[in-house]
Amino acid sequence: MGMFIVIEGIDGAGKSTQAKLLAKWFENIGYEVVLTKEPTDTDFGKLIRRLVLTGGREGIIDGAKISHEAEALLFAADRAEHVKKLIEPALKQGKVVISDRYFYSSLAYQWARGLDLEWLININSFAIRPDLTILLDLPVKESMKRIDGRKIKSEFDKITELQKRVRQNYLKLAEKFKEIRIVNALAPVEDIHNDIVALVEHELLGRAEKVS
Ligand SMILES: Nc1ncnc2c1ncn2[C@@H]1O[C@H](COP(=O)(O)OP(=O)(O)O)[C@@H](O)[C@H]1O
Ligand SMILES: [Mg+2]
Repeated sequence: MGMFIVIEGIDGAGKSTQAKLLAKWFENIGYEVVLTKEPTDTDFGKLIRRLVLTGGREGIIDGAKISHEAEALLFAADRAEHVKKLIEPALKQGKVVISDRYFYSSLAYQWARGLDLEWLININSFAIRPDLTILLDLPVKESMKRIDGRKIKSEFDKITELQKRVRQNYLKLAEKFKEIRIVNALAPVEDIHNDIVALVEHELLGRAEKVS
């Protein structure tokens, strides 16, 4: 079996930046890496991106804004495809899978929208647990500064108050899910990368050596 690593955090936390650096780091030491993300690039994922980016205003279902529950189920459906078609097969081939967001995003965001956490966990129960989940944590003010230049902002980006709740939710999830490690995302890119590598070496590569 390969290794499954997830990078999480609010918009602008540096997930995509760090996922790419970590993928390169693994490749340099000889691993085969699958770098992936959620929502995915499948039709499900595209549907969600359109929905989230437009807040449903020009999205699917005749432009009507869908319910939070339907939104959560769409994210879960996209994730089911992701797990069954990409993540599980790659892990079986012994690859390192790095995902930019995973089910923790659904929990943190949809919980912040008022949905029940246990229900969200239940509808995602098929989602295999990663070996390690990196939570990039930083104040919302800083993340908003980083993403200010983006032309297309998601519905989530616009609402600072929601982002603050999401950040707090992520921190609460870190107490609930033992695979989550919190990394201070306020630091320079290289320092964060080094922190993540240290965690990977300590939590995953060290563990593999002990077993063999
Ligand atoms: N540690 C950092 N310090 C300052 N700026 C950063 C840092 N990490 C990423 N950025 C910048 O912040 C923006 C958001 O980063 P990104 O990796 O796209 O975040 P996310 O994928 O979490 O939304 C990008 O313009 C990126 O270059
Ligand atoms: Mg990103």
